[in-house]
Amino acid sequence: MNEPNKDRVRRPTVALCVTGSIAAFKAVEIVRALVTRGVRVLPVLTRSGAKFVGRATFTGLCAEPAREDMWDPSFPGELHIHLATEADVVVVAPATADVIARMVQGRADDLVTALLLCSRAPIVVAPAMHPRMFAHPATQRNVRQLREDGRATIVGPVVGPVANGEVGLGRMADPVEIAAAALSLLGPRDLAGRRLLVTAGPTVEDIDPVRFVGNRSSGRMGFAIAQRAALRGAKVTLVAGPVELPTPPGVERVDVRSALQMQAAMHGVLGADGSGADAVVMAAAVADYRPAHASTTKHKRGAERISLELEPNPDLIAQLGASRAGRRPVLVGFALETAQGDDLVRLAREKLERKRVDLVVANAAQESIGLATNRAALVTPTGEDRLGELDKGELADRILDRVRDLLAEA
Ligand code: CTP
Repeated sequence: MNEPNKDRVRRPTVALCVTGSIAAFKAVEIVRALVTRGVRVLPVLTRSGAKFVGRATFTGLCAEPAREDMWDPSFPGELHIHLATEADVVVVAPATADVIARMVQGRADDLVTALLLCSRAPIVVAPAMHPRMFAHPATQRNVRQLREDGRATIVGPVVGPVANGEVGLGRMADPVEIAAAALSLLGPRDLAGRRLLVTAGPTVEDIDPVRFVGNRSSGRMGFAIAQRAALRGAKVTLVAGPVELPTPPGVERVDVRSALQMQAAMHGVLGADGSGADAVVMAAAVADYRPAHASTTKHKRGAERISLELEPNPDLIAQLGASRAGRRPVLVGFALETAQGDDLVRLAREKLERKRVDLVVANAAQESIGLATNRAALVTPTGEDRLGELDKGELADRILDRVRDLLAEA
C-alpha cells in the first residue's frame, strides 16, 4: 500500500486570504477559477472575512480546511509558517483598507498578516472598499507603498456600484481577472494554443472475462504531464488505461483498456494524417503482447500445465514515428528499463532511433515505479540531460519545456 502523501504530485498552490469586505462572496468565484485549472487553494480568512462568508463554504470548495486562527489547535505546528511555505502565490481578495495598511506596516497580528510577512511568494492584492475609503490619502499612500515594496501585483479596484449603491472607484476587480493574475504568476502559459495528446497508465490485455495480463504502471507520470500541460495553456487529450486517478482539471479524458483500444482512441484524436495534435507524449506502459485467443468464458482449472499464447501488439509510437511526414506531431516516448546509468541512456537512445521519436524520457524501473519521484534522463538525437531526483510534477515541467522548444523548431 502507498502511504497517503507519498504519491501526491505537488500541485501549484495559492493561499487565498479573504478579508472583511462585502465582496468576500466573490472570493468563491476566484476559488472556482483556480480550482478548475488544477490549482490547490488554501483558504485563509480574517475574523471579519469569516463574518461575510462561512468557513464551510471555502473548506468545501477547496477541499482544504479554511483557516482563521493563528492558534488553531487542530494544526500541529506553526500554521502561518506552514501556509507561507506551501503557497507559490498569495492572493488577498478582497483586500480591505485595513489589511493593506497592516501589510504596509509589516504587522503580524492575525493569520493573514503573519502569513504575508512570512511568505516570499508573489502577492496579488485586490482592493475592495467604499470609494471614499480608497480615495483617502492614507489608503492611497499605503497602496503606493505596497507597489513600491515590489512584491504585490495590485488588481483593481474598478469603478462601479459598491454595496450601498454609490458608484465610484472601490469595487473589487472581476474575480476571473484576479484568478488570471494569480495563474500568470504561477507559471508560464507557454503551451497556449498547442494541442497535446498524452497517454498514461498501463494497458490491460484480457485472457478471459475475469483475468488479464497487465503491468504495474500507476499512470501518475502521464497524469502529471497532462495536468501541467493544461496549466501551461495546452489543449490536452489524455488517453488513459485503467487507473484510479482523477482527471486533471481542463483535460479531456478518454478511458481505454487494451493496446488496441488505445490505438483506436489515439487515431480518433490524431486523425488519418496525424494532424489532430501538435505533440504526442506516450507515457503509457503499452503491453507489448496480448493473449492470442481471449476467451469469452472463464477458463476452468485443470490438473495439466497450460501455456498462454501471446501475440505482439502494434508499437503505437513507432507507427507514428514511421508514418509522420516532417516533424509534426512532435513525438515523446518513454523508456522504462531495469538498466541504470550509461546502460539506461544507451538503451533509450536505441529506442529513440528505432521508434523515430524526438525525445525519450529514460527511467530506471527501480527509481520510478510506484514512487512520487523520478530520476530520469532526457535523451534526444543530439545529447542527453541527466536529471536529478524530481517530483513527478517537476519532471513533467522539464519534459514540457523540451516539448515547447521542439514545437518551436518543428
Ligand atoms: N510503446 C508503444 N507501443 C507499444 C509499446 C510501447 O507506443 N506497443 C511506447 C511506450 O508508450 C513508450 C515507448 O514505446 O513511450 C517505450 O516503451 P517500452 O515498453 O520501454 O519499450 P518497448 O518498445 O516495449 O521495448 P522493450 O519492452 O523491449 O524495452
